[in-house]
Amino acid sequence: MEKRIEVIKKCALEAGEILKYYYSNELNTRFKGKIDMVTDADIASQEKIVSIIKSEFPLDEIIAEENSKNTYNLDSTWVIDPLDGTTNFVHRLPWFAISIAYIKNNEIKVGLVYVPLLNELFLAVKGEGAFLNEKRISVSKEDKLERSLVGTGFPYSIHENYEKILSRFKNVVINVRGIRRPGAAAQDLAYVACGRLDAFYEDGLKPWDVAAGILLVSEAGGKVTDYNGNEYIIGQSDQILASNFLLHDKVKKLLS
Ligand code: IPD
Ligand code: CA
Ligand code: CA
Ligand code: CA
Repeated sequence: MEKRIEVIKKCALEAGEILKYYYSNELNTRFKGKIDMVTDADIASQEKIVSIIKSEFPLDEIIAEENSKNTYNLDSTWVIDPLDGTTNFVHRLPWFAISIAYIKNNEIKVGLVYVPLLNELFLAVKGEGAFLNEKRISVSKEDKLERSLVGTGFPYSIHENYEKILSRFKNVVINVRGIRRPGAAAQDLAYVACGRLDAFYEDGLKPWDVAAGILLVSEAGGKVTDYNGNEYIIGQSDQILASNFLLHDKVKKLLS
């Protein structure tokens, strides 16, 4: 795994430089859906990451957001979100990340979330723990809902289908200290892993949004399931709940 860890960091740092460049320069954007955008930065970051991985591991499978497939072979596979938080990026909100995971035989082995503007690199290795800039991290110890800060987000399809999402949101917001919708799911999961958020939940996330973050949260001592408490299965589950473990059942109740 050593070589893969080295390569995943190289990918993140080089793609991070690309994102920093576009963040303060002109940016071309186009729509993928009604509100869902893709920019030159998403594409350039993805091309950089994919080219590095292909040159080092030509036989591995790659799943990357900007040319995604609907079938997921997770035998020896990289799962990439080259720019998580595209809406923030377009509006020049400094809250976005790169997310890369390596999966072998259906098990996430390495997960990385890199926040270039803050120079924060979150890395988890299966069985070895989770780290922020090489320092070990762990989830928060909060066990009271009224003292917890919870992250969430909304799918791009929210305009068509919002009743359930809003009623869950209401249930959570009136029972916790605060709720945040930062706008980059991979970063939100990394923040659960290091204890800045006590829990995070969202509907409709894709493998590239969550793969790295799931390993970060579990290696940091947290718990990840769907809203019913069942195992979260990449490519199949539609709802994710990640927490510091202690609050898991309490937040799960608010979502049911
Ligand atoms: C989005 C972000 C956002 C979440 C959306 C995702 P993108 O990813 O993670 O926080 O609410 O559901 O699709 O498109 O910026 O990579
Ligand atoms: Ca994303
Ligand atoms: Ca993205
Ligand atoms: Ca996107």
